[in-house]
Amino acid sequence: MIEFLFFGFYSFNLPRFSLIVDMEILESSSELSARIHALKEAGKVIGFVPTMGALHQGHLSLAMEAGKQSDVVVVSIFVNPTQFNNPADLERYPRDIQKDADMLSETPCELLFVPTVKEVYPEPDNRVFDFGPLDKVMEGHYRPGHFNGVAQVVSRLFDLVKPDKAFFGEKDFQQLAIVRAMVRQLNVPVEIVSCAIIREEDGLAMSSRNQLLSDAQRKNAPVIARTLSESCNFAQSHNVADTIGFVVESINASPELQVEYFEIVDGNTLQTVNSWDESNYIVGCVAVFAGEIRLIDNVIYRKGIS
Ligand code: PAF
Repeated sequence: MIEFLFFGFYSFNLPRFSLIVDMEILESSSELSARIHALKEAGKVIGFVPTMGALHQGHLSLAMEAGKQSDVVVVSIFVNPTQFNNPADLERYPRDIQKDADMLSETPCELLFVPTVKEVYPEPDNRVFDFGPLDKVMEGHYRPGHFNGVAQVVSRLFDLVKPDKAFFGEKDFQQLAIVRAMVRQLNVPVEIVSCAIIREEDGLAMSSRNQLLSDAQRKNAPVIARTLSESCNFAQSHNVADTIGFVVESINASPELQVEYFEIVDGNTLQTVNSWDESNYIVGCVAVFAGEIRLIDNVIYRKGIS
């Protein structure tokens, strides 16, 4: 008997803090390394939230969680060119450091690292990671090279920040699996903490890309989350193939949205499952174009003890 998880919507409101800590903004890697060295000497537990900026409540919730679980919170803002396989996407990626810094000043973030490309990559990073089948599917298939770039930048940032814990959102479900794999491969002494997706009140998963949506696209975008939610009910009386059909057809029926892929996969291996009893951990992952803007989301159908 399969138990399907309830897919609930919730929005996230930051508790109203006055300024929690003074936040220092650092641009240079050597300055950051010196500060980290001193903190490590003092025995502080460092929590790290890597971001590409254009922050929203999802990022802030990661910083809040990092604050609960560590002594010092470091956030980085770096739009990493090596993970963009589409130059237009890199070009239009939203950037507003001042606004981001203002938002972070209401979280426990103590060090904000905003390096240039040269600071992160003094030399070009030519490493090619081998993640086996993990990065051949879904995002890895549709955005070739993307996860190699993510692994490069996250490992480079881990080298600089030397975090005890690093916090990632579950919206980027495959990214989490890749980061965990990279950490295992390189033996990085860091705990990867995954945090639940934070949603707008209408269910849309929070994303920096949401601000690029036109009014019409934004109005239709919640169909993605709503359909994933409805698919949990649908899946109780339908097989995997029919559930895929249901999700793809429902989203594509919306005038502004076009599914790029929807796959139902094992939550650990990310390989497709063909029946609900094939795995104890089953996740549906979707990528949808709203015009030029690409949105991703996911739903956990089943998470049991194996
Ligand atoms: O998820 C993101 O914002 C980015 O992929 C990350 C992890 C900050 C690496 O650039």
